[in-house]
Amino acid sequence: MKILVSDSISELGIAKLQEKAQVDVKTNLTVEELVTIIPEYDALIVRSATKVTRPIIAAGKSLKVIGRAGVGVDNIDVDAATEHGIIVINAPEGNTISAAEHTIAMMTSLARNIPAASASLKAGEWKRNNFLGVELYKKTLGVIGIGRIGSEVIKRAKVMGMHILAYDPYISVENAEKLGITLTSLEEIYRKADFITIHTPKTKTTHHMIGAAEIAMMKDGVRIINCARGGLLEETALCEGLSSGKIAGAALDVFEEEPAVCNPICEFPNVIVTPHLGASTAEAQVNVAVQVAEQVISILMGEPPVTPVNVPVIPPETLADVKPFVPLMETLGSFFTQVYGGQAEAIDIYYNGNIANFPVAPLTTSFLIGFLSTILEDTVNYVNAPVIAKQRGIKVREVMSTTVENFTSLITVAIRRSDGGIQTIAGTIFNNNDIRIVQIDQYRIEVIPSRYMLVTNHMDVPGVVGKCGVILGEENINIAGMQVGRQSIGGEAVMVLQVDSPVADKTLDKLLSLEGMFSIKFVQLT
Ligand code: NAD
Ligand code: MLT
Repeated sequence: MKILVSDSISELGIAKLQEKAQVDVKTNLTVEELVTIIPEYDALIVRSATKVTRPIIAAGKSLKVIGRAGVGVDNIDVDAATEHGIIVINAPEGNTISAAEHTIAMMTSLARNIPAASASLKAGEWKRNNFLGVELYKKTLGVIGIGRIGSEVIKRAKVMGMHILAYDPYISVENAEKLGITLTSLEEIYRKADFITIHTPKTKTTHHMIGAAEIAMMKDGVRIINCARGGLLEETALCEGLSSGKIAGAALDVFEEEPAVCNPICEFPNVIVTPHLGASTAEAQVNVAVQVAEQVISILMGEPPVTPVNVPVIPPETLADVKPFVPLMETLGSFFTQVYGGQAEAIDIYYNGNIANFPVAPLTTSFLIGFLSTILEDTVNYVNAPVIAKQRGIKVREVMSTTVENFTSLITVAIRRSDGGIQTIAGTIFNNNDIRIVQIDQYRIEVIPSRYMLVTNHMDVPGVVGKCGVILGEENINIAGMQVGRQSIGGEAVMVLQVDSPVADKTLDKLLSLEGMFSIKFVQLT
């Protein structure tokens, strides 16, 4: 395993990587240099300086994982990574406390003009009247984005006696209640807050979410803090607000362009700036480097990611209930394609019984992996399977119901082809890890999937099964098991034969020529 670390990370993280892999630390590389060397590496680890763009990802022919030692992945083209089947992971929790503490430090410094007062005294001045501050006590703090960092900021601000107004369209009322806050609208925050702090990710929706129109709505003398991402605040509008006196001060750790060395915003005396230091504590840097290193190694060794950015995750608390269904779903997908072909317009997956109580997205992806990898040459994995299905125009739908008969959990997949035909397969798990295929189209059956299988559709008349046995015996193919599903005596039936070795095409032709045999398929599972 060869890993490239292209930004500075803690030595402890590097040491973790070196226990299992060859590691090269090469920082300040140009895009061209990265494109040239990236084909050698299985993994790339970055902080925020390296911009992992599409050309770099496309050149990374051996890349399996990109690790971000930190939270924000706006410096990584995650869509490009997903399309190339590369897992992106981050270390989302390691620097939460540091970033929250930095936000509080910035807010208190802003309220009491600490950096300017300090600089003035160090310059030999004693100008007490120049630095009149404001208390935070009983002031209203507007918090936009109530995720990990926003929540920690709220806890600390409440202890200081601030009133909280919080906005986050994606958190539940329950979570807000746990924090002891009531969610409100952005407008309310703009109209009422004395201090406003932003803690959202940078996305298409949040880019420039605070501009001239939003600033115009704010209270005169508002103070704004951004320790999240540059570009959430429109810097030109901020400069105008500061120049007009509408904004009393701003504290910024992040900028639209970084490094922000010649940024005019740094010229304002009432603006406090730090060079993206939110996560720069000894503790946070060790946390994120070790977390990302451990995860990159385990992914390269075939383990599922723990904090993926672009893969459906099985939450740890549901792992024991959901994980046993992963091999079932891959098996159903692969079995289906080998018996019926990979043409599909829509895939409806019905999760019935206990399994419907859990997040099933990873199971749906597992089915797609089995279904698609049988027909495609490209690597299909947890990252790119849903994208490939979408690109192939397949509509995937999950239908959940806790109601089920005869089983604890039953997963039924119905696939509609473009000619309107629908084929169905269903499976379950016995004793927590015994996979069973329990339905093929309209036929009830109970198949323990094996490496090699023959699946027939035939007339349920005397002799067919026996003649199959004779032909296979002549070819020295041992039958390990047999299950037949039928609806009525003498009608159509399906049979699954577990065999101990592959079956050649000429043998399949012989079997197909038997009277009463409609179709026969050889299925091989990996
Ligand atoms: P998080 O994912 O835990 O929380 C982000 C929250 O923002 C989520 O609750 C989400 O629902 C909310 N959100 C998304 N879109 C929103 C919108 N349009 N309006 C309001 N809320 C919205 O992330 P986190 O770990 O709390 O990190 C928050 C930010 O801080 C990120 O941008 C991250 O990159 C940044 N960060 C900066 C530093 C630093 O060094 N300055 C360090 C760590 C994290
Ligand atoms: C993050 O997203 O984790 C922070 O911006 C900190 C960093 O870049 O290291």
